[in-house]
Amino acid sequence: MRRVDFEVLDNWPPVRNHASGDMPHIPGTPTPGGRRRALVLFVNTAIALIGGGLSAVLGAFALGPKARAAGGRWIRAGTTSDLKPDEPVARVLAVSRVDGWYRERARETVFLVWDGDRTVRALSATCTHLGCQVRWDAKDKKFRCPCHGGVYAADGTVLGGPPPRPLDAIEARIDAADTSVLVRL
Ligand code: FES
Repeated sequence: MRRVDFEVLDNWPPVRNHASGDMPHIPGTPTPGGRRRALVLFVNTAIALIGGGLSAVLGAFALGPKARAAGGRWIRAGTTSDLKPDEPVARVLAVSRVDGWYRERARETVFLVWDGDRTVRALSATCTHLGCQVRWDAKDKKFRCPCHGGVYAADGTVLGGPPPRPLDAIEARIDAADTSVLVRL
């Protein structure tokens, strides 16, 4: 009878460990470990760039209103001869705005309140509840919002309804040279 000799191999099946350098390295090419490090560096750099871009976009949106307020332009809104003392008068103004990469040309209604002398105040006509346009009720001397019944006093403070805060005040002045009324939007 034929005798068969065999032995148990501890390292079967053969496993090649690239990192330990079992694979032959071709001179002039990157080592397997070097390629892995380069790949990790590439992925980390891509993640950092995407994260930075997203942060910039979100930051621009978050700071948009403040940036607008700081960089608003003075716009002519008529003269004092168009106004009545202590009576809010609505003015519709064309405004150009840049929000991040978005530029828009919008109309904005403001109420001008002139003291009959050298001071003028301006209030936004946009309701602070959900953004409807308020109207001046000359009989009751109040601003009224047609959408959900918000009521504001002549100085913009809330008198009733759902608005959470007063009407936004807008910077305004009278140009002494020609009595033009200017608002900053
Ligand atoms: S939008 Fe003015 S009360 Fe709701």
